[in-house]
Amino acid sequence: GAAGAPSADLAGRHVVVSAGGTREYLDPVRFLGNRSSGLQGYALARAAAARGAEVTLIAANVTLADPAGVKVVRVETTAQLRDAVVAASLAADAVVMAAAPADFRPTDVSDAKIKKAADGSAPAITLAQNPDILHEISTDRSRADSVIVGFAAETGDDTGSVLDLARVKLARKGCDLLVVNDVSGGAVFGSADNEAVILGADGATVDVPHGSKSALAHVIWDEVSRRLPTG
Ligand code: CTP
Ligand code: CA
Repeated sequence: GAAGAPSADLAGRHVVVSAGGTREYLDPVRFLGNRSSGLQGYALARAAAARGAEVTLIAANVTLADPAGVKVVRVETTAQLRDAVVAASLAADAVVMAAAPADFRPTDVSDAKIKKAADGSAPAITLAQNPDILHEISTDRSRADSVIVGFAAETGDDTGSVLDLARVKLARKGCDLLVVNDVSGGAVFGSADNEAVILGADGATVDVPHGSKSALAHVIWDEVSRRLPTG
């Protein structure tokens, strides 16, 4: 509960959390990246450990200190994140994809640092699409008993409201829960607080009022916990 000692409802469970944002290298020193801080993923890892879980935290370019009692695996690219998540999640009861994987990577990675051309021309970058990790683990039948959670930061547009778009994304990904942040009003990146709606593939809609990332993490584990197979 919110007050008092944390319950041990995740004791004996192994959970995997991904956090941070991936980098896609152009050359040995340059990359395409994003502003994900890793704060929500770290809050999830800390909350799960406090509730008794064995936690594997897969961290993409996060500068935060390792949470106590958590196994941290560091990665940089989406391909590395995919390999680490797929490997760690084979024996997991729950997987939460709080990381922001880059959707695209440069088609070519230069072994040497890219130099400016003598004629002043700028290079063009061509991109290839990265694997969809959440979709892959959600549609792998060997993980049918694990609870799989995705995140989505959405703004509404002409094709639908934030929640309409999120329902479509939940169905497309095939995960059990989707934590939806409405970012129409501005960025949540690096912020200490969060506000969200958790959508379930079973039709559930859970409103989480504005609060700390730790409070949101605990509501997410509440929803995961009630969906874990017993026995
Ligand atoms: N995700 C993933 N692998 C990717 C991209 C996203 O596992 N290559 C996960 C994220 O960690 C998140 C969820 O999918 O949990 C939704 O991410 P989002 O970027 O909203 O989904 P996309 O399918 O990339 O859709 P969009 O075109 O809206 O970016
Ligand atoms: Ca994306």
